[in-house]
Amino acid sequence: MKIGIIGLGFVGLSLASVLASKNYNVIGIDTDKKKCLEIENGITPIFEPDLEKTLRTGLKKSLIISNEFSFLKDCDIIFVTVGTPQKNNGKIELSMIKKASSAIGQAIRKTSKNPIIFIKSTVIPGTAENIVLPILEKQSRKKANKDFGVISNPEFLQESNAIHDTKYPHAIILGGPETKYMKKAKAFFSKIHPNVKMIFTEYQTAEIIKYANNSFLATKISFINQLSNICQNIPNANIDDVAKVIGLDPRIGKLFLNAGPGYGGSCLPKDMSALINFSDSIGVNPTFLKAVEKTNDEQIDNIISLIKKTLGQIRSKRITILGTAFKPNTNDIRASKSIELIKKLLKNNAKITVHDPKALENTKKIFGSKINYATSLQDALDKSNCAVIMTQWKQYNQLNKNSLRNMKNKIIIDSRRVLVKKELGGKYFAVGIGGR
Ligand code: UGA
Repeated sequence: MKIGIIGLGFVGLSLASVLASKNYNVIGIDTDKKKCLEIENGITPIFEPDLEKTLRTGLKKSLIISNEFSFLKDCDIIFVTVGTPQKNNGKIELSMIKKASSAIGQAIRKTSKNPIIFIKSTVIPGTAENIVLPILEKQSRKKANKDFGVISNPEFLQESNAIHDTKYPHAIILGGPETKYMKKAKAFFSKIHPNVKMIFTEYQTAEIIKYANNSFLATKISFINQLSNICQNIPNANIDDVAKVIGLDPRIGKLFLNAGPGYGGSCLPKDMSALINFSDSIGVNPTFLKAVEKTNDEQIDNIISLIKKTLGQIRSKRITILGTAFKPNTNDIRASKSIELIKKLLKNNAKITVHDPKALENTKKIFGSKINYATSLQDALDKSNCAVIMTQWKQYNQLNKNSLRNMKNKIIIDSRRVLVKKELGGKYFAVGIGGR
């Protein structure tokens, strides 16, 4: 059996690496030649724990990397994992899905195979049926769900946990008509993930499930952030204790209640925006979703007001930002709240120094010489007027009185409360902790 995977971002590359390491014949395809060359040499374009190791195992076994779509004609299974980013107007950008569909259609025109095409990319409801299917049929001159199968198969993996989540998904969603292709899909997934719950549904339901999932996660985060802002204004209140206790209620659950600077990354913000736009487009006012998004948009202002409260004015002050990755264990800075904070502080004429264990190179691509980059925590803090902990990297838990010794003003703003129990010998303000 041959498996083709189109789009080698963290979803496609993790899937390709995991399947190849399990001895499946896999062809990973991406239009970016430079990226293909790196991957072929065992180098991952993104920092993702265990990905490089799994990729190298896959390459040693059966993984082929190419920018040639014609390889798809030999595939029995094709996964589409291309990006669906956000347009400037907030709507979903489907051009990569359209291009991939067109290329698959052309590749399978002359094949004698009856491949199954799985759409893993996050797409708004109606995309598989109204966009992907017609393009595939036109380009292949074949009939969908007769000559080849099309199944919506959304992905739930988290960056920084991509290999684990690819190996152990919590559920498998298969959207599309009940055909022989659906039966084959069931057999394929039962073999790879024998004990995982499989849900069979329509295309549109599978597509909205993904948005329901991500928007619910965003909701939990905005909820706890709103509560955190309330706690911050109640003497001695502590958001972590609140989160811990409500998380014990099984109806609520403990995950995604870590208050902070707001949600970032390449998925939650763009999926919230796509769902809001989609909802508007079908005549449903997304009042609630808009409030979740607005709460997230306002969270950086809370941090800026904490900085202003302690520093007075921001102009000309040296401010250290600890962490620019959108979360720990990744070098991804897409829609990172740190980047948003730095941009706002630069507008206020602050002098910025950043530290991040993995994301400095990516940060340089945005700010160039406008800010300073420190490779050691000590360098980052020396002569600083104020340090703001933004990303919950483990390294920042180690900060202590001694690390702060050369700061000009010993002021720490902690958006994740990692130093809350430490005696730092300076001024300490944490998001979600009421002043004493
Ligand atoms: C998210 C979803 O969690 C995945 O299930 C989904 O597959 C993925 O999007 C996607 O659509 O591809 P990811 O973008 O990797 O995964 O990031 P998350 O771990 O969800 O974190 C998103 C943001 O929320 C980060 O900025 C993180 O710091 C923040 N967050 C998360 C909090 O502020 N508090 C929390 O309790 C949890």
